[in-house]
Amino acid sequence: MFAARQTFNLFQKRAFSASASQASKVTVLGAAGGIGQPLSLLLKLNPRVSELSLYDIRGGPGVAADLSHINANSTVTGYEPNTEGLHAALKGSEIVLIPAGVPRKPGMTRDDLFNTNASIVRDLAKAVAEASPEAKILVISNPVNSTVPIVSEVFKARGVYNPKRLFGVTTLDVVRASRFISQVQGTDPSAEKVPVVGGHSGVTIVPLLSQSGHASLAGEARDALVNRIQFGGDEVVKAKDGAGSATLSMAMAGARFAESLLRAAQGEKGVIEPTFVDSPLYKDQGIDFFASRVELGANGVEQIHSVGEINEYEQKLLDACLVDLKKNIQKGVDFVKANP
Ligand SMILES: NC(=O)c1ccc[n+]([C@@H]2O[C@H](COP(=O)([O-])OP(=O)(O)OC[C@H]3O[C@@H](n4cnc5c(N)ncnc54)[C@H](O)[C@@H]3O)[C@@H](O)[C@H]2O)c1
Repeated sequence: MFAARQTFNLFQKRAFSASASQASKVTVLGAAGGIGQPLSLLLKLNPRVSELSLYDIRGGPGVAADLSHINANSTVTGYEPNTEGLHAALKGSEIVLIPAGVPRKPGMTRDDLFNTNASIVRDLAKAVAEASPEAKILVISNPVNSTVPIVSEVFKARGVYNPKRLFGVTTLDVVRASRFISQVQGTDPSAEKVPVVGGHSGVTIVPLLSQSGHASLAGEARDALVNRIQFGGDEVVKAKDGAGSATLSMAMAGARFAESLLRAAQGEKGVIEPTFVDSPLYKDQGIDFFASRVELGANGVEQIHSVGEINEYEQKLLDACLVDLKKNIQKGVDFVKANP
């Protein structure tokens, strides 16, 4: 309750400092879903957002009508589920978040979602490329390791690809890592900073505990923590028992990433978030996308940080990550080539 009030007060304070010149249209594609609804709510509460635009194949206008009664300054519009509605939702957007697609059921990996979500993301990417090619695109739909390359291929084919503006949202891995390490170490989770690099599924999620301030964690305790960070999403899928995957924590993570981008766009320096981007770090190994700490700026990616110094244990995790990541990325690229 206290934390909630603090967050609200923070938003209110910022409301007075956000000027009209910083007007930002933010669009959510998949806005009526498990993630889409709480994500849209958090964006409605963010005074940096001046125009919130909601699209879904079902229920967008209903969610928009509901949120539009909240006494925050931004306008909220829900669009009809057709091509015109989609293009109107996107036109002039600074940020487009994509949580459209199906979530996991117990026993599924994120890759099992590929067949359904690949075409959803490809088609939405086509619309973004046409209606708002300048927008920063935040891909939440899984498998992120493949859906981000899908968006890049669609943009490349249309000659509008800007690698600085495409992001796979891996923030939830970082949020989970902070929470889980605090439970082991008895610390304040909001003060924890654990870099998580690689990708966003299973062994491609590589937490760098040696850079976390808890470098001394070792043995079984470390192994269990790393495993929990890599497979934490499964805990939620199992507990929801067929009703989906993480939605509320994911909404928080997505809203945090969007807020970081808006802060950077509005001139703040030194805004850093780990995110899955077109990255030079492992291109020599044929891996075009990689998540690491990225400094954000007015145009999106400002500077990509390397993984830094890692220990032998983390190097092994990274080696395993790179093998899977390469296949996941290739799968996305091949999909668009075969199904343009
Ligand atoms: N990146 C992450 O860390 C992370 C975390 C959790 C979930 N996810 C992923 O996010 C996605 C959404 O999860 P959810 O729980 O919100 O699912 P959900 O089924 O509750 O919601 C998905 C929404 O997308 C909509 N949709 C489907 N096709 C669409 C299209 N073509 N255009 C617009 N909207 C469309 C659906 O109508 C639905 O409202 C899943 O792929 C899930 O795996 C990612």
